[in-house]
Amino acid sequence: MGVEGKQELLKKLELGLVPDDEIIKLIRIELEKRLQWGYKSTYEEQIAQLLNLTHSLRHMNIAMEVDSLDSQIYEVPIDFLKIMNGSTLKLSCCYFQDDSTTLDEAEIAMLDLYCERAQIKDGHSVLDLGCGQGALTFYVAQNYKNSRVTAVTNSVSQKQYIEQESRRRNLSNVEVLLADITTHEMADTYDRILVVELFEVN
Ligand SMILES: C[S@@+](CC[C@H](N)C(=O)[O-])C[C@H]1O[C@@H](n2cnc3c(N)ncnc32)[C@H](O)[C@@H]1O
Repeated sequence: MGVEGKQELLKKLELGLVPDDEIIKLIRIELEKRLQWGYKSTYEEQIAQLLNLTHSLRHMNIAMEVDSLDSQIYEVPIDFLKIMNGSTLKLSCCYFQDDSTTLDEAEIAMLDLYCERAQIKDGHSVLDLGCGQGALTFYVAQNYKNSRVTAVTNSVSQKQYIEQESRRRNLSNVEVLLADITTHEMADTYDRILVVELFEVN
């Protein structure tokens, strides 16, 4: 689909003119493309793909189009996010193990997988870069009670929400930094740094 076609489609999506079954078809096409891009048929191609990815990640900016993104997306009211998301308000991918998995279960399954893959241990200091509404921050802080979690966001409303929720949940092991990580110099070091869907292009 060309750029004009995409713009036309986005306009229709915003106006609610694309039926759900069409949206599902489009999502499947995009996922198929993503799988073809990420998973190669031979070992050599797969290694080359991973090395390329590693190389490009080392050279790209951590976050892009900072100004235009934030005001539009990351200051939306919490009541709206509660309608759109599952119970953890995760603003990123979830793990649906099968067709019967609910959104709430898929959010938790993904959070669990991050911790398993990052081999987080109770007592670790953890940095959650680009923390959103704190889905991962709260998951780590609640499941690893002796850990300290530092959440970083450039959104005022996200910081306020996480601080308010931390008080409500009686969590004293959460700290939130309001910072633009493209320029911010971190003073501390951490046992684990988790970055979930912060690499974005407008
Ligand atoms: C797609 S959301 C993902 C949120 C969270 N990791 C999750 O999975 O729910 C991206 C997050 O990165 C933050 N972010 C984007 N650019 C940033 C920047 N330059 N500095 C700090 N945070 C940034 C946004 O405010 C938002 O919290």
